[in-house]
Amino acid sequence: MDPVLECRRLTCGYGRVAVVRDLDLTVTKGEVVAIIGPNGAGKTTLLSTIAGFARPLDGQVLLNGQPLAGGSPTAAASAGIVLVPDDRSLFTQLSVLQNLKLAQARGGRTVDDVLDLFPALRRRIRSHAGVLSGGEQQMLTLGRGLMRPGHVLLIDEMSMGLAPTVVADLLPALQRACSETDTAVLLVEQHAEVVETIADQIIVMVHGDVAYRGSAERASTDRDAIEAAYLGQR
Ligand SMILES: Nc1ncnc2c1ncn2[C@@H]1O[C@H](COP(=O)(O)OP(=O)(O)OP(=O)(O)O)[C@@H](O)[C@H]1O
Ligand SMILES: [Mg+2]
Repeated sequence: MDPVLECRRLTCGYGRVAVVRDLDLTVTKGEVVAIIGPNGAGKTTLLSTIAGFARPLDGQVLLNGQPLAGGSPTAAASAGIVLVPDDRSLFTQLSVLQNLKLAQARGGRTVDDVLDLFPALRRRIRSHAGVLSGGEQQMLTLGRGLMRPGHVLLIDEMSMGLAPTVVADLLPALQRACSETDTAVLLVEQHAEVVETIADQIIVMVHGDVAYRGSAERASTDRDAIEAAYLGQR
């Protein structure tokens, strides 16, 4: 399979302090790779570096085999990297429809496509984004991300603050949207159970180092190894 996103010995951090060290990672077309790790592991730092908000301290990020010029969010975005950040970043005083329209981009999905993926949003189309429930806000955030044409979707802690049943409803829509368009997905979460139904690979990161790596099938029978990797942080 063709690699879409590759990190080669990627080291990222702030100033001279490395937060993620020597990370190797490959996401192919239509594949979902999950990065799991506790608070402070470096997950958000990794996604922001791939999305061009920080320059790698060492190593490379490649998109479709070409090195990305690090440190420019605009260059990363126009190359087709879409970041869905963990703060939901919605226009709370605008309606669902207005929020979606503002995310419209040439070559991307339409408002209707997104409403088909998340029918709950259609029922709230005129509501202000600020009054939506947490799950509805997350659908809107994801929907806005999915409207941008991209080869790679980076999603930071989609499940934050949501009930497990709400997350279980979001995942199939995400999976459907990405497999339809062969998008490569890098999904960050704190716990493997949240994503093992849709992830192809699971990477556990602790203090910036890879503590476990395996297919999702292997990970589901390797709970003890994953727990030990987590505990290794102490
Ligand atoms: N802007 C920054 N400047 C300096 N250090 C930072 C900055 N942002 C994060 N850090 C540090 O980098 C380390 C990794 O943080 P990061 O936010 O990447 O972790 P995370 O895995 O996303 O954690 P969480 O699960 O809590 O979101 C932490 O020690 C944090 O204090
Ligand atoms: Mg984070």
